[in-house]
Amino acid sequence: MLNFLKLVNIIKVCINNTFNIKSLEKIRIKYISKNGILSKKINNILYNNIYFKKKYGFFLRICKLNIENKIFFKKKIINKFLFQKKIINEKIDCTLPGRFISSGSFHPITKAINKIENFFKKLGFNFFYGPEIENVYYNFESLNIYKNHPAMDMHDTFWLNKNKLLRTQTSSMQVRIMEKFNPPIKALFPGKVFRNDYDSTHTPMFHQIEGLIIDKNINFSNLKWILKKFLYFFFEKNINIRFRSSYFPFTVPSAEVDIMKKNGKWLEILGCGMVHPKVLNNMNINNNLFLGCAFGIGIERIISLKYNISDIRIFFENDLRFLSYFK
Ligand code: DAH
Repeated sequence: MLNFLKLVNIIKVCINNTFNIKSLEKIRIKYISKNGILSKKINNILYNNIYFKKKYGFFLRICKLNIENKIFFKKKIINKFLFQKKIINEKIDCTLPGRFISSGSFHPITKAINKIENFFKKLGFNFFYGPEIENVYYNFESLNIYKNHPAMDMHDTFWLNKNKLLRTQTSSMQVRIMEKFNPPIKALFPGKVFRNDYDSTHTPMFHQIEGLIIDKNINFSNLKWILKKFLYFFFEKNINIRFRSSYFPFTVPSAEVDIMKKNGKWLEILGCGMVHPKVLNNMNINNNLFLGCAFGIGIERIISLKYNISDIRIFFENDLRFLSYFK
């Protein structure tokens, strides 16, 4: 018994002299774990002699419990001490500037589309997003573009097979919409279009926004009025524009709109016209009663004109310096 009490004292001294969680754990394992020195000693004393068991059992267990508690509280004290030390060392400098998290923003093309949509929504247009993989009928034939038309040329169109292609113009949505809805129609179709072309003013994928109006008493002046108002709105000033007669198989008469650049030269930005009677007939729309006008705007074109961008490939290079300019 004397030996036992001596051992208990030694352990208590060890615990008192320790200021380290690891060595505290070592002490616990060494003395009071299942095979620890003290645990074994208690077992020896208790199970060899029934007399000892009765007389000292309770006392011995209390001694062990006491040591367990001592270790537990010592751990708490050390942890508290370490925590306070950490707080003292980790001084907070209130004068440091906050960490700046830069937020993302919409791509300039998405922004332009949203702006254009806002304008046309107020005029009562509805929006539709058609398929980018189109068939020959909607992209060409329904629009009065037949086999030997240059637009069908292999060099322009990305063909997927004999009948399927990546749409070359958002005009492909015109007939789809006329099939679905009866006139009057006021619709806008923004989206990606694809042509096999690549230089500073052309990319194989670019964006157009197409407008279509089918109604009674529609005439070319309605079209001119809308486009003029739209361009003044988009460029935020009364820019110099001209309507130049042109040719598109699906409109008659057809025109292109040019804008005067800063250097005094004209640049074409959109095509438009009165919907061709053949296209209306294709859709069983009575062209004695209803007339239509349509327009297709190149989105990259008008943004680059507005912001004086000479190479449109920059829109798709993901250069953050360029993109953040439009935030
Ligand atoms: N789809 C033509 C193009 O990609 C643009 C166009 C011209 C659209 C005349 C129209 C239109 O709706 O009437 O060049």
